[in-house]
Amino acid sequence: MDTRTPEELLAGMTWSQKLAQLQILWRRDQDDALALARGGIGALFWPQSAERTNALQRAAIEESAHGIPLLIGLDVLHGQFTIFPTPLAQAASFDRSVPAADARISAAEARSGGVNWTFAPMVDVARDPRWGRVVEGFGEDSFLAAALGAAKVAAYQGDDLTAADVLAACVKHFVAYGAAEAGRDYNTTDVSRRRLRETYLEPFRSAVAAGAASVMAAFNSLNGTPMHAHRRLLTDVLKAEYGFEGVVVGDADGVAQLVRHGVARDEADAVRQSLAAGLDIVMGGPELAGDDVPLIERGAVDAARIDDAVLRVLRLKKALGLFQNPFADAAAERTAPTPQTLRTAQDAAERCVVLLKNQGAVLPLPAGTQRILLTGPYATSTDHLGAWVQHFGAQAGTLADALRAELPEATWTVASGAEFLGPSDADIREAVLLAAKSDLVLIAVGEPSSISGEAGSRADIRLPGDQEHLIQAIADTGVPFVVILITGRPLVVEAWIDRAPAALLAWHLGTRGPEAIARVVAGAVNPGGRVPMTFPRAAGQIPIHHDAENTGRPARTGGSMAVHRWDVGLQGPNNLDDYYTSKFLDLERGPRFAFGHGLSFTTFCLEAASLSTSEIPCTELRAGARVVVSASVRNVGERDGDDVVLVYLSDPVASLAQPVQRLRGFRRVAVAAGEAASVSFELGVDDLGFWDDEDRFVLEPGELVLTVTDGTDAERLALNVTP
Ligand code: NOJ
Repeated sequence: MDTRTPEELLAGMTWSQKLAQLQILWRRDQDDALALARGGIGALFWPQSAERTNALQRAAIEESAHGIPLLIGLDVLHGQFTIFPTPLAQAASFDRSVPAADARISAAEARSGGVNWTFAPMVDVARDPRWGRVVEGFGEDSFLAAALGAAKVAAYQGDDLTAADVLAACVKHFVAYGAAEAGRDYNTTDVSRRRLRETYLEPFRSAVAAGAASVMAAFNSLNGTPMHAHRRLLTDVLKAEYGFEGVVVGDADGVAQLVRHGVARDEADAVRQSLAAGLDIVMGGPELAGDDVPLIERGAVDAARIDDAVLRVLRLKKALGLFQNPFADAAAERTAPTPQTLRTAQDAAERCVVLLKNQGAVLPLPAGTQRILLTGPYATSTDHLGAWVQHFGAQAGTLADALRAELPEATWTVASGAEFLGPSDADIREAVLLAAKSDLVLIAVGEPSSISGEAGSRADIRLPGDQEHLIQAIADTGVPFVVILITGRPLVVEAWIDRAPAALLAWHLGTRGPEAIARVVAGAVNPGGRVPMTFPRAAGQIPIHHDAENTGRPARTGGSMAVHRWDVGLQGPNNLDDYYTSKFLDLERGPRFAFGHGLSFTTFCLEAASLSTSEIPCTELRAGARVVVSASVRNVGERDGDDVVLVYLSDPVASLAQPVQRLRGFRRVAVAAGEAASVSFELGVDDLGFWDDEDRFVLEPGELVLTVTDGTDAERLALNVTP
């Protein structure tokens, strides 16, 4: 066993050897990777088997100058072999146990092959569905992202990083990457300090508090400073203020890109600036210590800063137990899912489905001998894994097979336009003919995984290809139908949603996605998911999210029709009080599906919402007092089901205009038919105060309103915060 301490190791290292520890590189060719390991590089991407990984570790330990083991990194975002729903889909579960289950199984599968570091979870708050990477995170709300991100970090890492089934987590992308202007990936961001704190930093603060071993810097520049060189945020906020003792890694070639951003002269200048700003590991780019010739001279960066970075890297390796045993047990390597991991992935997938609409209770389909047509590109597609899955992720089956197995008595006809950019006119004509001979049509449409995720920005977020026409054509037949929407992002659904009797939001649900969808369609599972990111009515409404400010001229709510300019003339001055208000003239008001929307096959009633106190002094809150919000939900329908109870805070009079509502608690509860379940939430100073624009957290006296809602019922409770 190697008992050298990080400090002892550091004392013997040259400048070049130190720099080598501060880099992760990807080499497809194993000989090239072995050469880097011998040269003392700190980290490499996973070479895709335990055997190859062990060879790299052996080269590092036996042949490099100091025998330091390697960090072995990989993007394990929502599964290694057993693929779970995408993170955005997981957010729809409003259930911490879903990302936790994903992380536990992902970690066990990946570590068994020698991976010890995952570049996940992604906790970028995202309010712009044009941005393809919304699929990798937990949606638009920072409270939800903070809770789910922290749960995922804890589950990846377990209690002890030396265990054979855990990974060091890497929370990314620090910070405000999700605020990319126009939703165009990698684009500039410009964010007020207050919004940075309230919205974008909060999930990182929470993940660091949960013990995240590493944080990844984001590609974007923020208020003019690219994040890879953002000293105030990397060092002053993340490391000093949050007390983060782990490793800050750059994103792929993000350091070298400082040249393109226009803040560095050349790559050496970029490396110098990044390390000085607080970055500890450079991902990609030219070798920092190639052939023992350092890219930056001794003295180019403060020596103490470099030593700090090296110590952070060595301590992480210690924490992972790599000095005791850097090798994976090749005999125990997992290379495929097991029945148990698939079962868990399916349970998770079932919890992520959102029932958007269900007029006339079309769903669930009754068991029986009805004639069902399944059509749309997703009828026979196996594209259910979603973005950011490695090529070895276990494939899904098809919806056609899963539905046939779940509803065997029905007479099934399958007419699939196999191309996502289709179906073609001929496919649509065929589907219409077949619909006429059916009792019901299931239309499985969506967005392929390949157009969501990184670099997957879209300016037009309607269903691609001719899929809207397919839905319209089926609607014209008059045969009842259900739309199953498989997507990586909220889409604009205006062209068809009003005509669809029922719609299920099924995301990319992973290896067992089709089976999960089939069980919801058949009623074996009662859907309980909720929309974690607002569905706009038009791309022109973006950004649109639930926690916006009121403005000085809020448009009237309730009346959903737009007020057209000509209405003023037609209807006289009565309309003027709603004319100069904040809205679009050519669009109905509000979102299509708001954050938190989701129906069930049963009906819930919210009862007895109350606060533990209606008045509390600031002084007590600052000293740690908590206010308890309680409520109960009763299932008054005939099926067991899950309800989601949300607590929102509003602060009608404050020194800074506050969002109309801020999520402060969420709980998903299973309630049997006829039964009730109680829920409670504890709120403290962190929940009731807010950030000002000078980086100060403030708690002000005044009347607050806490709204407890399950989406159907809502109760408003007043809380008086006294000085
Ligand atoms: C670029 C992506 O932005 C990041 O999320 C990922 O972890 C790295 N590439 C490494 O694959």
